[in-house]
Amino acid sequence: MQKELVTAFAEVFGNDENTNIYFAPGRVNLIGEHTDYNGGHVFPCALNIGTYAVARRRSDRLLRVFSMNMPQLGIIEISLDSQKAVPAADWANYPAGVAWAFIAKGHPLPYGIDMLINGEIPAASGLSSSASLEVLTGFIFRDLYDITLTNQELALLGQYAENHFIGVNCGIMDQFAIAMGKKDHAIFLDTADLSFNYVPLVLDKAKIVLANTNKPRELVESKYNERRSECERALAELQTVTAINSLGDLSEAEFENYKSAISDEVTARRARHAVYENMRTVRAVTALSENNIDSFGQLMNESHLSLRDDYQVTGYELDTLVEEAWKVAGVFGSRMTGAGFGGCTVSIVREDAVSLFIEKVGIAYEEKVGHNADFYVVDVGGGPVKLS
Ligand code: GLA
Repeated sequence: MQKELVTAFAEVFGNDENTNIYFAPGRVNLIGEHTDYNGGHVFPCALNIGTYAVARRRSDRLLRVFSMNMPQLGIIEISLDSQKAVPAADWANYPAGVAWAFIAKGHPLPYGIDMLINGEIPAASGLSSSASLEVLTGFIFRDLYDITLTNQELALLGQYAENHFIGVNCGIMDQFAIAMGKKDHAIFLDTADLSFNYVPLVLDKAKIVLANTNKPRELVESKYNERRSECERALAELQTVTAINSLGDLSEAEFENYKSAISDEVTARRARHAVYENMRTVRAVTALSENNIDSFGQLMNESHLSLRDDYQVTGYELDTLVEEAWKVAGVFGSRMTGAGFGGCTVSIVREDAVSLFIEKVGIAYEEKVGHNADFYVVDVGGGPVKLS
């Protein structure tokens, strides 16, 4: 694989002198969905699949990038000093956004880079292919230009690029899970203050199975931003009756006590999801630490119902995958993962039931939805690395 990438780099950029190879993982969120911009907890882990890059320094202020996933776009050339995303730059807006974030946050970049990438994470799958690319680019800049930054700072720069260059108002979960990933561990992160701990993900004789709806991407960003504003509205109304900084500050009982301050019923349901999901996440981590996978799975199922009914970010495809998963013996839990509206589900499945799970859910999905789903049995990987 690594050799093929270098050969491809030489073909695209003329030679492979002074190149290095890098990798950054994708991530899956096990529980704690749409809580990261509400000061709540999340529980994601890095995957053993992700994005590879071959890169080297340039001696001018250009980024020249090529994706083996989109060879028809050829080399995309974009200035290191670009100020905002432009449609013509397509996926190159992500590396350009990271360069912009470095410079904006006081980490000057002397020159640009040549970079060839090859991603294993399907785009729009809810497994953070874009955050993987952002963290990867930051990791490469740091390495090639000897910039002193921690992995956590790389995550924050990636999020800053996404929020202010790309224009998606995402939370910190994806970039954090990728930059801070640890093999065989999930990350229990409190997004209120970024305190976190690694929890061993020892699933005795069970596997993490991802299922991709293969639903074409539609307006995910605008719906995502809309949910975020709804939560901000709910918070502002709650703050008229209680002194809180975020929805994550409330227990379920406190929420029930104060919820009448929220004037609109839909907004109240959004907030209810944020509060209950946060508490579910805390409980799920306790259950896992006690090796209680049944209870962990049950909380995953409840998370899906809340995302379906209160937060309304699922849709027919995700609901079908999850409902079919719930019917299969040997499934501990199943839910949508990521922003929603399409993308993937995550299920914890007994090892000896995985093949049957894929077969049964796959057939039922195709029958009901009219196109196939893709399945991935994944392992929990580490953070970004320089491979050579
Ligand atoms: C996307 C965002 C994350 C998070 C999830 C929902 O993946 O990038 O910050 O909000 O959606 O949990």
